[in-house]
Amino acid sequence: MVDPETTFVLGTRPEIIKLAPVIRCCDRRDIPYSILHTGQHYSDELDAVFFDQLELPTPDYNLEVGSGRHGQQTAAMLAGIEEVILEDEPAVVLVQGDTNSVLAGALALCKLDIPVGHIEAGLRSFDRDMPEETNRVVADHVGDYLFAPTEHSQEYLRDEGIDDDRIYVTGNTIVDAVKQHRDLAREKSTILEDLALQTTPYGLLTAHRAENVDDSERFENLLKGVRRVAATHNLEVIYPIHPRAQDRLDEFDLVVPDEIRIVDPQDYLDFLQLEANAELILTDSGGVQEEACILGVPCVTLRDNTERPETLEVGANRLAGTESDMIAASSEQMLTTQHEWANPFGNGSAAEQILEILGKETQAHI
Ligand code: UD1
Ligand code: UDP
Repeated sequence: MVDPETTFVLGTRPEIIKLAPVIRCCDRRDIPYSILHTGQHYSDELDAVFFDQLELPTPDYNLEVGSGRHGQQTAAMLAGIEEVILEDEPAVVLVQGDTNSVLAGALALCKLDIPVGHIEAGLRSFDRDMPEETNRVVADHVGDYLFAPTEHSQEYLRDEGIDDDRIYVTGNTIVDAVKQHRDLAREKSTILEDLALQTTPYGLLTAHRAENVDDSERFENLLKGVRRVAATHNLEVIYPIHPRAQDRLDEFDLVVPDEIRIVDPQDYLDFLQLEANAELILTDSGGVQEEACILGVPCVTLRDNTERPETLEVGANRLAGTESDMIAASSEQMLTTQHEWANPFGNGSAAEQILEILGKETQAHI
């Protein structure tokens, strides 16, 4: 048993990256905390590598739930989280984002007498076919402290009848993470040399979302569209592949066009360096849309909707879906527009603000 004031419940790559600034802030402020890892991500390349590189302590607990069907995975997390929280009785629990780990954390906590804070609250794709949409809606409706990254997300929460006194606009902790690691990535990463990209213009692709890669036709179309962009603009496209996408490529026996180079998932510094130097980013990731916008790199989103409309509004991103013509047209437009837009996700002090607010609102000595 540990004696935390704050417990972080996390489970996947983006949660580790986006909670790292908050965890570091706890260290700076001498706030006792514990980390409860659900084990949703467990492969070194999606998990341990980030704890090492971001210098985070080993989780105090790891439920090791692993992969599985939604209900099975979430249920195992719920049972495990409840047990740990009942034992440790922290003053507050924090979850981040929209994964099944967030759903389980928020649901487990709302039945206990311990408040839960949802970081990155109020994002909406309005697409209930995405498991993430259900997860974020539930977390927002049961959460006690909702840390919305922008006024846009604050408005979505208000529209759903959530009281203003639960909502705090703080910016997104991804800005803190990018600011804290961008210079380090420039200094330390050798990925451009390793992939022989120092003088070669390239595009960067990530595609892992279930609605894209679990559907063989959509996945194939997406790859065809990206190939067309690569051929038209004479860009090699680097694709650090998520294990889900690799599994589906194998299962569907899809042939990846020569213009797309598959590489392993990258650690954070290498991935930031790849993003920052790309001519164009093509992605279905949430966090990657934000990072492209913050880094000033044009982005084409390979989805029909986005819960990050701020990136569209400032002109940093275009929605292309997975059809070849739209991917080609959107890429053309993004490659030929100017790259100066305002970062809508805050000034990089989200972690500080979150802990400041919690210190005032809870019994914790934060
Ligand atoms: C999950 C999140 C998604 C998020 C993504 C971040 C949900 C519903 N989805 O998707 O919102 O964008 O994480 O990367 O919570 N696998 C491994 N090693 C691992 C983890 C997974 O090989 O460490 C493989 C397994 O084959 C597994 C598959 O990836 O079946 C999917 O993993 P899962 O955690 O269910 O969802 P993600 O696609 O990672
Ligand atoms: N990322 C990384 N290495 C990679 C691909 C992504 O470090 O090979 C980082 C990326 O910088 C971003 C986060 O992972 O901060 C995004 O995670 P992911 O796309 O898995 O999930 P999502 O944001 O879509 O939930």
